[in-house]
Amino acid sequence: MLFDRHDSIDINVFLSEYWQKKPLLIKGALPDFIDFLSPEELAGLACEEEVESRLVFSSNNSWQLKQGPFSERDFTFLPEHDWTLLVQSVDHWLPEIKRLLQEVSFIPSWRLDDVMISYAVANGSVGPHFDYYDVFLVQGQGIRQWQIGETCDSSSPVNTDSGLKILENFSVQHSEELHAGDILYIPAGLSHWGTAIQPGLCYSIGFRAPDVTELLSAISLQAEETLSADSRYRDTDIDPQQQPGNISSSALQQVKTLMQDALANPDLLIHSFGRLMTEPRLAELFDPPEQEITPEKMAVMLQKGRQLIPHPATRFACHHHAGALYFFVNGESLFIPDVSDKLAALNDELQNAKGRALDLRKFQRNEDCLKLLCALYNQGSLVTE
Ligand code: SIN
Ligand code: CO
Repeated sequence: MLFDRHDSIDINVFLSEYWQKKPLLIKGALPDFIDFLSPEELAGLACEEEVESRLVFSSNNSWQLKQGPFSERDFTFLPEHDWTLLVQSVDHWLPEIKRLLQEVSFIPSWRLDDVMISYAVANGSVGPHFDYYDVFLVQGQGIRQWQIGETCDSSSPVNTDSGLKILENFSVQHSEELHAGDILYIPAGLSHWGTAIQPGLCYSIGFRAPDVTELLSAISLQAEETLSADSRYRDTDIDPQQQPGNISSSALQQVKTLMQDALANPDLLIHSFGRLMTEPRLAELFDPPEQEITPEKMAVMLQKGRQLIPHPATRFACHHHAGALYFFVNGESLFIPDVSDKLAALNDELQNAKGRALDLRKFQRNEDCLKLLCALYNQGSLVTE
């Protein structure tokens, strides 16, 4: 495996040669990079009840994990070295981080999972491990050394004594130092181990990729809504049975055909996949308004120039097929058979929102657009600024 280093890279080259294939270091990818928050602010977030955070202590190749939320006191007595604070989904709390996500907007937005930020003091590390997800590591202040090992999978031995999954075998193939503004891309499954040389922040842009079990669960959940009870196991051309308990290969073939026919149902596939990929990480963050809004009231709000913005935890996706639009938001789906130009324009606006306030005045006279906006507002997926 080659380890490549570029000062900048063409998106098409990245996608064809590196994405999901091999690691890449882009030196100085974000020149003059300024951190989105300070280590103290990150620690402040880790003290919040709803925020997922961890402290990892490392010494002599052994690791200790402490789950958040933390108190101020937890941070007062920390040593000067050998620990890392990790805070998950910071993009949900700090909408400005959506700007960092712009850097990877050439990858479908529904593949994104979250931005995790870690602050590591000298020699702090979370140990050698692999993730099932692709990740872009963006270095902020400080210097971190990243060692890259070999590709791993579910059969790679790991030690879970600490609550972390530390690889038992890690053989270093490459080692690189990351400074502010450098980006290291690590494909899913490739082992890695970051250790702080100088205290600093690292932003991990992580992607979600469902495993086949998750896909099957999503499909089975959707099947209850989409498929009729008429599609059923049948054995019309059965032979006389010598062994009544035997499940024959032809019975299994019948099951397989039934399942394949079900999967060939485009509605089943798109609804289940769209809903799965837009499931929010933290559904409890959505806070529907006390009073539901009506399309008439929404029209007045837009007329007055009130700006709406997707809740930072909102996930949108869509699928176009034969003039129809499948619209997905936070694990729910909406099928719109005949999409007017206005509704298509509203869909584009929402899919490209990227954390910006939306100017929706042009939709104030369209009933379908108002209905959609109301539904999103009443869910808490769209909020007033
Ligand atoms: C870290 O920020 O130290 C850990 C990130 C990762 O390895 O995925
Ligand atoms: Co990792």
